[in-house]
Amino acid sequence: HESTVPGELGDPTVRAAEVPEPGAVTIVVPTFNESGNIRELLHRITESVPGRLPCEVVFVDDSADDTPEVISRAAQDCPFPVTVLHREEPAGGLGGAVVEGMKAAASDWIVVMDADLQHPPSLVPELVTTGERTGAGLVVASRYIEGGSRAGLAGGYRIAVSRGATWLTKSLFPRRLHGISDPMSGFFAIRRSAVTAEVLQPLGYKILLELAVRSRPREVTEVPFVFQDRFAGESKSTAREGLRFLRHLVGLRTASPVARMVAFGLIGASGFVPNLAGLWALTALGLHYLPAEILANQLGVAWNFLLIEHLLFRERRRHRHWGDRAGRFALLANADLVLRIPLIALLVGTSGMSVLPATALALVTTFVLRFVGTEALVYLP
Ligand code: GDD
Ligand code: MN
Repeated sequence: HESTVPGELGDPTVRAAEVPEPGAVTIVVPTFNESGNIRELLHRITESVPGRLPCEVVFVDDSADDTPEVISRAAQDCPFPVTVLHREEPAGGLGGAVVEGMKAAASDWIVVMDADLQHPPSLVPELVTTGERTGAGLVVASRYIEGGSRAGLAGGYRIAVSRGATWLTKSLFPRRLHGISDPMSGFFAIRRSAVTAEVLQPLGYKILLELAVRSRPREVTEVPFVFQDRFAGESKSTAREGLRFLRHLVGLRTASPVARMVAFGLIGASGFVPNLAGLWALTALGLHYLPAEILANQLGVAWNFLLIEHLLFRERRRHRHWGDRAGRFALLANADLVLRIPLIALLVGTSGMSVLPATALALVTTFVLRFVGTEALVYLP
């Protein structure tokens, strides 16, 4: 059949007319150096999908190898439309690629799957028909329900990491992930109408999590699947990708100001560790405890600054030079200390409050001021 020439992002309006049938599916496949898997993938899709559902395949490619050319060649033998969108700037990694593919999708249903055949193409029709039958907006292929397994997840280490990540993620989003046993799955079907592309901020591998939390499809259902071995090539997941996942989790969890304030407080509390360690080291070196307190406090401030820069406000750093941000942050943190005592004196002196509630009130007040100040004066939205 046809294929768009790899190059610039294709113009989706040109192809939109090609797959007009209701109940049709657009299969979105992110690829990063997967030339060894393309023929087999398209072959197996050809075997199991077009006979049951009208389909098209959209590859979104960030490869440095010849994957786009291999796709274009293999596409000539396919009985359905195949498109390659090659990105010169791989923004958002895997998740960014998937969202790009979703925007170009022409069908009512979108199935997202990997190119390495760890996700069996034979399951694509069942994912869509299950959605049609149940009225669900999202159908997740799960390794963790009866009938599913993670046979292809090699090694105890990867299994443990996968389990821990799934547990952590489910505990952070109990409501949004209700009914999803496998939020880390990269294999799912979603109605195009349920994808709110404008609000998505994909970051790395966990695009299903991003969709479940930010697009919030109304009904969710699951179909079991067996996670297979990779057909050719190697996994593209790295330790760096793991860190990106943590940042993605923090970003999703701190979308609201209240959640951000809680995270800010937790980071602040963690600053006690370097603060006390610094105090111990400096006094052990023979420094008087008062200057040691002040210096050690700066250590806690630096620690907080680093965590806040890299976890909480990572996407909001562009407005100022980092030295400017550090200076403002340190100023706010030290103002907090300097202001607290006079504030307590004021509360006790003028309103006759007793010392403990006055101190608690002053702590909360300076904390909130520091948070608001950090949001408004250090990191502009
Ligand atoms: N376009 C694009 N850009 N594609 C990418 C990128 C990227 O930066 N990184 C990876 N891919 C593609 C790969 O080429 C492959 O088709 C698919 O995304 C999955 O990549 P793998 O490297 O094979 O991932 P994995 O097997 O380690 O992880 C898979 O299984 C996990 C469950 O254990 C993914 O589906 C994960 O999302 C899933 O959580
Ligand atoms: Mn894989």
